[in-house]
Amino acid sequence: MSAAIKTLSILLFLGLISGGYGGGLRFCRNSDVNVNQSQTGTQIKGKPEWVVTITNKCPCVIEQVTLNCTGFQTVEPIPSSTLNVTGDKCLLNNGKPINNGASVTFKYASDKSFPLNAINVAYNNC
Ligand SMILES: *[C@@H]1O[C@H](CO)[C@@H](O)[C@H](O)[C@H]1NC(C)=O
Ligand SMILES: *[C@@H]1O[C@H](CO)[C@@H](O)[C@H](O)[C@H]1NC(C)=O
Ligand SMILES: *[C@@H]1O[C@H](CO)[C@@H](O)[C@H](O)[C@H]1NC(C)=O
Repeated sequence: MSAAIKTLSILLFLGLISGGYGGGLRFCRNSDVNVNQSQTGTQIKGKPEWVVTITNKCPCVIEQVTLNCTGFQTVEPIPSSTLNVTGDKCLLNNGKPINNGASVTFKYASDKSFPLNAINVAYNNC
């Protein structure tokens, strides 16, 4: 390759990259998976009930969303298709895609609330 072609290829390559960044593409972070929870005011088996709404604030479709379930306990059962608790991790929505702006909601009952932050997320259609 001549020096001129090399330079041209590098410029083209850089152009593609900056074009990608400039085209509204944005990288999503786990914190774009918003966890909002509050007490429902109901008691289940003597423990406060919490309602959790997990919303995809990322402009991409997300899937395989895993939450940090360290220490998680509930006396109110949650369907495993909504939250599959495995040790310190929970798989949300059976790992199925959640569109931008869409939410998954579930309730649990425990003496305290758990942060349930997303620790692993796959991003699609960004
Ligand atoms: C969290 O949910 C509560 C109850 O639905 C709502 O009032 C509040 O605005 C929400 N907060 C955020 C940051 O979305
Ligand atoms: C999970 O949550 C626990 C306690 O809430 C915290 O100590 C730990 O650092 C978290 N793990 C990750 C991977 O965020
Ligand atoms: C829950 O997760 C475990 C471990 O990944 C898996 O073996 C099991 O089939 C899952 N259960 C459901 C109901 O999805």
